[in-house]
Amino acid sequence: MAGGAFAPTSGGKEYPGKFTGRVFLTCIFAATGGLIFGYDLGISGGVTSMDVFLKDFFPDVYRKESSVKPSDDQYCKFDSQILTLFTSSLYLAALVSSIGASIATRTYGRRPTMMASGVLFAAGAIVNGLAKNVIMLIVGRLLLGFGIGCANQSVPIYLSEVAPYKFRGAFNMMFQLFITIGILIANLLNYVLARWVGGDTAWRLSLGGAIVPGLIILLGSCFLSDSPNSEIERGNYEKAKDLLLKLRQVDNVDEEFNDLVEASEKAKLVKNAWLNIFKRKYRPQLVFAFCIPMFQQLTGMNVIVFYAPVLFKTIGFGSNASLFSSLITGIVNMLATFVSIFTVDKLGRRKLFLMGGTQMFICQIVITIAIAMKFGLSGNPGVISGTYAGAVVAFICIYVAGFAWSWGPLGWLVPSEIFPLEVRSAAQSINVSVNMIFTFVIAQIFTAMLCHLKFGLFICFAVCVVIMSIFIHRLLPETKGIPIEEMTTVWRNHPHWRKYFDEDDAKVETKPKDIASA
Ligand code: BGC
Repeated sequence: MAGGAFAPTSGGKEYPGKFTGRVFLTCIFAATGGLIFGYDLGISGGVTSMDVFLKDFFPDVYRKESSVKPSDDQYCKFDSQILTLFTSSLYLAALVSSIGASIATRTYGRRPTMMASGVLFAAGAIVNGLAKNVIMLIVGRLLLGFGIGCANQSVPIYLSEVAPYKFRGAFNMMFQLFITIGILIANLLNYVLARWVGGDTAWRLSLGGAIVPGLIILLGSCFLSDSPNSEIERGNYEKAKDLLLKLRQVDNVDEEFNDLVEASEKAKLVKNAWLNIFKRKYRPQLVFAFCIPMFQQLTGMNVIVFYAPVLFKTIGFGSNASLFSSLITGIVNMLATFVSIFTVDKLGRRKLFLMGGTQMFICQIVITIAIAMKFGLSGNPGVISGTYAGAVVAFICIYVAGFAWSWGPLGWLVPSEIFPLEVRSAAQSINVSVNMIFTFVIAQIFTAMLCHLKFGLFICFAVCVVIMSIFIHRLLPETKGIPIEEMTTVWRNHPHWRKYFDEDDAKVETKPKDIASA
C-alpha cells in the first residue's frame, strides 16, 4: 500500500507523507461513521411502505392506502403528517446534537465524539426494534438522530485532518461512500425481510438492525487514535507529533507539525468562533456553508432515498417491485460515488457540480413528462406497461447517478475545506445543521407535495437545480489542488468576493514560537 512521498500539486506549501496502509485503514474505520447516517436514510422509506408496519403504528394511513382503488387519485394515498414525522423527527435531533457535538469535538476530541455517536445510535436501534407504540418509535428516532449529529460533525473533520494533504478530497469522500453503502444495505435488508420474512419480524429486524452500523463505528473508533490536530488543540504536543510520524511514515514531519501548532495557536486567539464566523471576512465562505447543504437537499435526492418505495408504489408497482427498484437506485448511488472519488482532484469541484446538475435537470424534466402523460391531473394512470415502468426507473437511476458524482459527496467536501481552522468546527456545525433542517423539511413535506403538486413535484426540484447551478457557475471559486491553509487566496482573488477582504486581512500573522521539538 505504501507509496513514495508525493510531489507538489500547486505553488503552495507541501508536506512530505506517504499513502500508507495505516492512514488508509484509519480513514476507512473513521468513514464507517457514514454507515449510520446512510443506514437510517435508507431504512425508513422501506419500513414505511411495509403494510404490516403501517397497520401496527399508522392504521389510518394503512386504511387510506388500502382503500385507494387503481382508478382513484394515486398522488395522495400516502399523505400523512404523522407518518412523515416518523421519518423526519430524526433530523431535528441530529440538528440539535451537531451543535453540542461541535463543543465535544473541540473539548474532548474527535474520537470520543465518534464513540458517543455509536453508543447513541445503537441505543436508538434497540428502542426502535422493540417499539410497542409510536412514542417508542419517535424516542428511538431521536436517539438515532443524536448519534448521527455526533458522527456527521466529527467524522468529516477527522478525515480531513488525518488524510495526507494530496489525497484529502478522495479521503473525505469516503464518508459519502459509506453513506451510500449504508443506504444500500438498508435497501437490501428491507427487500429481503419484506419478501422472505414478512410480518412484525420484518420491520423489527430492519429497525433493530441499525445496531450493527452503530457497533461498527463504536468498535472502529476504539482502535483509532485521535487526530494530531485534536491532540495539539488539547495541549498534547508530544503525542501529536508521534501520531503524525506514524501516519505520514516519513522521518521528519516538522514543517507540517509546526504549521498545525501555528494554526492551533491562531485558533486559540479567536475566543468565540460562533461570533467570529459572522465577521465580514468570513462572509463568502459562510454563504457557501449555508447554501451548499441547502441546495444539496433541494436537488430532491432524498425524495428518492426516503420515498422511492412509496413513489414506485404510487406509479403502480407492487410492494416487492417497489422495494426491488429502490435496491437498484441504491446500487447506482453507491457505484456512481466512485466516479467522483477518482475524478474530483483532476476535474475539480466546479465541473462535477455543473455536470451533475445538468444530468439531474434533464432527468427531472423527463420524469415529470412521463408521470404527467400517464397520471395527468386526476392521478388515475389506467394500465401501466412494463416498458413505461422500466423507463421511469431508468431515468430515476440516471438522476441518482448525477447526484452521486456531484452534489452528494461535494456537499460534504466543499464546506469542510473552505474555512480557516479558527472557525472550521463552527462552520461544520452550520453545514450539518442546515443539511439536517432541509432534510427534515423535504422528509416532512414530500407526501403533501406529491399530493398537491402532483407530477409538478419534480419540476420544483428542477427549478432549484437550475438556480444552484447558476450559483456555482458564478460564485464558487475552484478549490482543487489548493492547500487548505492557502484557501483564503482563492476568495481574495475572486471578482465577486474580493470586496469582502481588506488590507489588514492580508497581513501575514507572526509565526508563534517553534515547538517542533516538543
Ligand atoms: C446527503 C443525504 C443523501 C445522501 C444520498 C448525502 O450526501 O446528505 O441527504 O440522502 O447523500 O446518497
